[in-house]
Amino acid sequence: MLKVNQKFYPPQRVLEMAKVKDFEALYKKSISDPEGFWSDVAKELFWFQDFDKVLEWNFPRAKWFLNGKTNISYNCLDRNLDAGLGEKIAYIVLDEDGNEEKITFGELHRAVSSFAKSLLSLGVKKGDRVCIYMPSSIEAIIAMLASARIGAVHSVVFAGFSAQALRTRIQDASAKVVITSSQIKRRGKNIDTLSTVLEAIKGLDFVEHIIVSGECPQNFISFESLLSSSLADASLMDSEDPLFILYTSGTTGKPKGIVHTTGGYMTAVYLSTKLTFDLGSDDVYFCTADVGWITGHSYVVYGPLLNGITSIIAKGAPDYPSIRRWFEIIERYRVNVFYTAPTAIRMFMRYGNEFLKGIDLSSLRVIGTVGEPINPEAWLWYYKNVGLERCAVVDTWWQTETGSHMITTIPSYPAKPGMAGKPYFGIEVKIVDEEGKELPPNTPGYLVINKPWPSMLRDCFNEPERYNQYFNSIPGNVYFSGDIAVCDEEGYIMILGRADDVLKIAGHRIGTMEVESALVSHPSVAESAVVGKPHDIKGEVIKAFVLLRQGYLPSEELSNELKNHVREVLGPIAVIEEIEFVDKLPKTRSGKIMRRVLRAIERGQDVGDTSTLED
Ligand code: PRX
Repeated sequence: MLKVNQKFYPPQRVLEMAKVKDFEALYKKSISDPEGFWSDVAKELFWFQDFDKVLEWNFPRAKWFLNGKTNISYNCLDRNLDAGLGEKIAYIVLDEDGNEEKITFGELHRAVSSFAKSLLSLGVKKGDRVCIYMPSSIEAIIAMLASARIGAVHSVVFAGFSAQALRTRIQDASAKVVITSSQIKRRGKNIDTLSTVLEAIKGLDFVEHIIVSGECPQNFISFESLLSSSLADASLMDSEDPLFILYTSGTTGKPKGIVHTTGGYMTAVYLSTKLTFDLGSDDVYFCTADVGWITGHSYVVYGPLLNGITSIIAKGAPDYPSIRRWFEIIERYRVNVFYTAPTAIRMFMRYGNEFLKGIDLSSLRVIGTVGEPINPEAWLWYYKNVGLERCAVVDTWWQTETGSHMITTIPSYPAKPGMAGKPYFGIEVKIVDEEGKELPPNTPGYLVINKPWPSMLRDCFNEPERYNQYFNSIPGNVYFSGDIAVCDEEGYIMILGRADDVLKIAGHRIGTMEVESALVSHPSVAESAVVGKPHDIKGEVIKAFVLLRQGYLPSEELSNELKNHVREVLGPIAVIEEIEFVDKLPKTRSGKIMRRVLRAIERGQDVGDTSTLED
């Protein structure tokens, strides 16, 4: 049995190898002189021209490493070649059938430089948006790094998104180029991605080129044909030049395009990959995230490459062809650091631990989680059955907006199951009430970040007022994460969940409004309210309350039709678990749906203050 607040101290072998043995000392240093701290980290990377100022904080706008000129693709590739890593494997990619594809840093450098040159010949210029709709693959990584190499801004869209969701994102970014794969293989089936792209771009005249990897019909440009041109040097990018846009769900129906820039993002991702996972140069690292999400951007692509690390990518689903798959990969490649999501851990946990018998996991040293709160039972299962009680578990809290880890423990520091840990190097957080007043320990409140950090979002693309919302919803000139959290006497932070109308379905972020808009776009739906309902494996699932238009009657068929409709509009991450047809929705007198009331009813909790309820 787990004791409340039990601490797990780092195993001796983890401690011995740790780069940072005294977390608190380094943390103190990073906080007492953040600019000095970050400047030192940035200088471990390559700059064509040094920055002359570390930070300019003009609330709520921050600039980092001012006037510095660099290029993240140069730092991921050329810099490693200069360090003699040309022959080192950068990625080992495994498909569902266990076929292996390897690429060295040298080969990746060639491919990226040549692809970059081809993009230039196609007329792609600095600042142009390039949409990448591809699954995790070497091709997706080439496309990202090649864009970065010439200063084009990539917008990767998770390849599970529907045509409509893809269209919204292409349109919002007015992408000049769309790069896709002809198909994706998942659970033994081929999914036709190209036709999704074609549907998505119908009538969007600003899309000038479609580049297709794999089988490429004649009227499109073959990805592979762009890999044999001459090589493009990395262009000089200003530290504050945008690097990418990544769309994420907010509280309105429209996803927001989170903008990250070059120098600060690069510096913080480089540092956190190195220290959270305590990566050594001979380590093999396996992060299960898809490149379509921020974890894929920061900790599959940029972080490991900036550190010259060999990474594993497993294509396809976690449990296909068998639930042993990821663990057999760990055994086969002697993986040292493994990074996954609580939802996957809970899925494995359901199978007990028999299925792990006979698989040698002894190479592991650090195992991490991200994306949603990990319940102590799942933490313990992970620690015991995957970590064999001899690994450090790091539970990393962060967001698309933060770009890199914000709260975690590092391997040499004791962890507490269920608690993300402590603020990271250079990061100060507070738990406050709605007036911005700091709350005492053990009192849940809003999680805010006090000071700017290098990898913070710089904008919401085309919507600066949405950027401002992060900084004006809680008094005190702080960034509001949207999360509720609680801190214990020792300063460990536990994340309790979202404070806003954003759901976390199997770690994926989706706005209740997005699902509601999708529902009302069906002719039978007059109104709907969507809430998250607790679920053993997925953390949360979607429950929808639906008010039908006149002339429609509730039925099993209609319920299924609506579920399919939402899936078509938003993609398979928006699977509705349950639909309840109702005659009325709880609303405030001003007409706002009170999801809080529905949520409480769903959870069997007290509905709280209903004085503003209309009926
Ligand atoms: O609610 C928090 C949850 O995921 C949100 C951010 O989602 P997204 O931008 O998709 O990024 C996910 C990957 C970084 C947060 O506001 N979250 C993320 N990590 C954790 C977490 N909740 C609890 N514990 C975590 N370790």
